[in-house]
Amino acid sequence: MSNLLLIIPLLLLLSTSAPPSLGLAHQSTSISAFRQCLQNHNHSDAVLYLPTNSSFLPVLNAYIHNKRFIGPATAKPLAIVTPTHESHVQATVLCAKANNLQIRTRSGGHDYEGLSYRSPSPFILLDLNNLRRIELDVETETAWVEAGATLGELYYAIANKTNTLAFPAGVCPSIGVGGHFAGGGYGNLLRKYGLSVDNVLDARVVDARGEILNRSTMGDLFWAIRGGGGASFGVILSWKVKLVRVPEVVTAFQVDRWLDQGASDIFYRLCHYYRWQQVSTNLSKDIFIRAMPQVVTTPENKTKVMISFVGEYLGRTKDLVSYLSRSFPELGFREVDGKEMSWVETVLFWAMIPVNKPLEVLLNRKSEPSYFKSKSDYVTEIIPREALPGIWDALLKVGPCFTQWNPYGGRMAEIDTDEAAYAHRAGYLFKVQYYVWWVEDGEEAEARHVGALDALHEAVTPYVTKEPREAYLNYRDLENGVNSVEKPEWSKAKVYGEKYFKGHFERLAKIKAEFDPENFFRDQQSIPPFPHSH
Ligand SMILES: Cc1cc2nc3c(=O)[nH]c(=O)nc-3n(C[C@H](O)[C@H](O)[C@H](O)COP(=O)(O)OP(=O)(O)OC[C@H]3O[C@@H](n4cnc5c(N)ncnc54)[C@H](O)[C@@H]3O)c2cc1C
Ligand SMILES: *[C@@H]1O[C@H](CO)[C@@H](O)[C@H](O)[C@H]1NC(C)=O
Ligand SMILES: *[C@@H]1O[C@H](CO)[C@@H](O)[C@H](O)[C@H]1NC(C)=O
Ligand SMILES: *[C@@H]1O[C@H](CO)[C@@H](O)[C@H](O)[C@H]1NC(C)=O
Ligand SMILES: *[C@@H]1O[C@H](CO)[C@@H](O)[C@H](O)[C@H]1NC(C)=O
Ligand SMILES: *[C@@H]1O[C@H](CO)[C@@H](O)[C@H](O)[C@H]1NC(C)=O
Ligand SMILES: *[C@@H]1O[C@H](CO)[C@@H](O)[C@H](O)[C@H]1NC(C)=O
Repeated sequence: MSNLLLIIPLLLLLSTSAPPSLGLAHQSTSISAFRQCLQNHNHSDAVLYLPTNSSFLPVLNAYIHNKRFIGPATAKPLAIVTPTHESHVQATVLCAKANNLQIRTRSGGHDYEGLSYRSPSPFILLDLNNLRRIELDVETETAWVEAGATLGELYYAIANKTNTLAFPAGVCPSIGVGGHFAGGGYGNLLRKYGLSVDNVLDARVVDARGEILNRSTMGDLFWAIRGGGGASFGVILSWKVKLVRVPEVVTAFQVDRWLDQGASDIFYRLCHYYRWQQVSTNLSKDIFIRAMPQVVTTPENKTKVMISFVGEYLGRTKDLVSYLSRSFPELGFREVDGKEMSWVETVLFWAMIPVNKPLEVLLNRKSEPSYFKSKSDYVTEIIPREALPGIWDALLKVGPCFTQWNPYGGRMAEIDTDEAAYAHRAGYLFKVQYYVWWVEDGEEAEARHVGALDALHEAVTPYVTKEPREAYLNYRDLENGVNSVEKPEWSKAKVYGEKYFKGHFERLAKIKAEFDPENFFRDQQSIPPFPHSH
């Protein structure tokens, strides 16, 4: 830790600045001191937007995915910094710290609760959208990806060089790799290759001292940022990833079954037949079949439950037909249901973009914001047949919405639970997401839709993990518990921490204590330093 010696004199110099910001006057003092500090730090070419700048709101709103956090009711940052160089990130951390300002780090802005760009206390938004270089090496099958790159940009970069390599990550192309990988990151290659974090080889991170660490200098931090999220630990600048091999031709499919077409049978009957709940986690690793019970509106304006089975197979359709006719005949999968394409075309397929569109659509970083709320669960035991009608009723009451049941097994069951901070591995059947969106503005509509989703979540309680009821960090949900940003409490952190990280929570808090003992990097759901009294 010889770096520490270099940084201490610097911090002493910086810490002579402003007292804790208590009011508007203090805030404007700290912000001008912050600005001055940046300039003193070789940051004169960095881009800083103050609220008086006409680009401030467009820059802020450019990467807000949840419309709930766009309006005037959402507290705005004191300033936005959009680094174009790693040294700008270091300076932002040091100058914010010196002026008692917090920062929020944003890569793709897809956080469900907007924690990457909003906070109850004064803060600087560090927006990494200009740090998005991708250096790909087909020979070594690796890539360095800067945090502000999107999944679409990574997928495009791979496909621009080869159609036999891929990367296991999420299905929405505008997600940022900064937040997504740190929280785990999963998609349809999960059963074959695990999570994004299982294919991360190295990372560059700015810590609370403003130092850049890499795998060989960050010790246990490398374990933490693979599932523990980035926001509690520092600013991730870039990831080095291992690309994975895929065949030139793969198969994607979606088959829709209405409940009265026997979808409920496929989903829940527990006879001697293979059924989706039983088989999806036991199929070949080359097959991923997501079940999507959802509520759709019919042309007669009635709502109905439909179950879509959306899948991907790393091979040809005819082989899939023959495999499924033996392993999962109840699905009724036919050759016409499968669509053969390259792996990158399946990225379009999953994103519901026509697969014949030029791949450049993947470079479109902006996504249309919408009002939504999402919750998650993990399931370790098959849900009994008799429980399902009650769940479908609760689903119908939400109105138009979807749920996604993502099968585990395969590679997920092979990777040791302690390999990385991500804690939900062997022994899980499904990861579930419940998702409702709406178009009406206003608090009443929000309360109504969120309430309906909560009721669905409540109805599923007996059939999912308990004590804690586990949740997926990347499906951020403030109903899992929140902390005060001004006075974080260990007992409050334990509530959401154990849901997201299970037995890994304490280890994460100890790593936090080592790398950020003053808890500079914090938000409403961050991991506080492990307290001495415990
Ligand atoms: C439409 C949609 C589809 C999705 N599909 C999937 C899916 O298929 N699979 C899946 O696993 N998830 C999925 N997600 C969830 C997604 O993985 C998370 O929202 C993820 O955190 C987004 O990363 P981001 O960089 O875009 O988000 P941001 O909002 O920028 O950040 C999310 C969190 O990470 C922190 N953070 C961001 N960048 C950094 C950084 N560089 N260093 C340190 N901390 C950082 C932020 O402060 C915040 O706490 C989906 C989300 C949406 C909206
Ligand atoms: C807004 O901020 C940007 C980036 O710092 C700067 O280039 C631009 O001149 C500013 N515009 C105004 C009107 O102040
Ligand atoms: C200063 O910033 C420039 C780019 O903005 C970078 O090339 C240079 O390495 C930085 N110098 C230091 C000392 O960080
Ligand atoms: C795709 O690859 C070609 C050839 O290597 C390169 O010229 C082009 O710039 C790449 N496209 C993008 C958008 O990176
Ligand atoms: C990691 O950082 C150390 C110290 O700065 C450096 O010596 C080493 O080369 C770096 N490793 C990589 C892979 O960049
Ligand atoms: C399916 O896999 C799970 C583990 O993922 C195992 O416990 C179970 O016995 C398997 N079921 C069948 C029918 O093979
Ligand atoms: C269904 O509802 C929409 C919007 O509420 C309306 O425009 C449409 O006419 C309705 N269709 C029928 C068949 O009632």
